[in-house]
Amino acid sequence: MKERLQKVLAAAGLTSRRKAEAWILQGRVAVNGRVVTQLGCKVDPETDRIEVDGRPLQGSERRVYYVFYKPRGVVTTLFDPRGRRTVADYLADIPERVFPVGRLDLNTSGLLLLTNDGPLAHRLMHPRFGVEKTYRVTVAGKMSDEALKKLENGVLLEDGPTAPARVRLRLREPGRTVFELTLHEGRNRQVRRMCEAVGHPVVDLVRVRYAGLTLRGLAPGQVRPLGREELERLRKAVRMLSERSSSGTMKVNSGPETV
Ligand code: URA
Repeated sequence: MKERLQKVLAAAGLTSRRKAEAWILQGRVAVNGRVVTQLGCKVDPETDRIEVDGRPLQGSERRVYYVFYKPRGVVTTLFDPRGRRTVADYLADIPERVFPVGRLDLNTSGLLLLTNDGPLAHRLMHPRFGVEKTYRVTVAGKMSDEALKKLENGVLLEDGPTAPARVRLRLREPGRTVFELTLHEGRNRQVRRMCEAVGHPVVDLVRVRYAGLTLRGLAPGQVRPLGREELERLRKAVRMLSERSSSGTMKVNSGPETV
């Protein structure tokens, strides 16, 4: 339930409500990475991340961010009742409880963001922000320029036409075509359905970029913490960059990025 920020700060036992108001006006309080300087702000202490002078309110857990190179054949969940390999099988060295942001099909490999930052994950998955995703797609057969253009301009799927996309041809030979496809949508099995719609089934699919992040330094099955710049890029993608971090004065710990 949402309550006034000063009330939440006072209820956490940090200070009086009056002093909390002064802290807000002084720009010492941030909500979800954004400094708040107005008293009307309402927050949900359960889901919003509140910081005073860069330190999380007690109970606001440390936020961490990792890039995972999901191999083919791994289910994008933390538990599979059918006993298949899941993302959780690769997280033994990660002390925090993180979850995958969005999902990749069982037979898609590539970039999955893992975090415990619910508000950021929510935004990244929300269609309003149209977060950019790039896939390296290999399809069967030699794709015509016309078919590639169709992917770019939009194809009609059963849940409606796809939005304009970007295509970069990498290889075209009699048996297969390889290209990069950049989308701002995230519908179920979208790339596979788009390619099927133009007559070329996907034989291999790898997500190589997500919201400005890349698989740099990773082999399938490996995980790495995000660098500071990567986290800022991610936040920019969903307009959550804090004023402080953009001016370079926010303290960032080493190891996995924390906020
Ligand atoms: N599009 C697909 O078809 N599958 C994925 O896993 C991701 C995008």
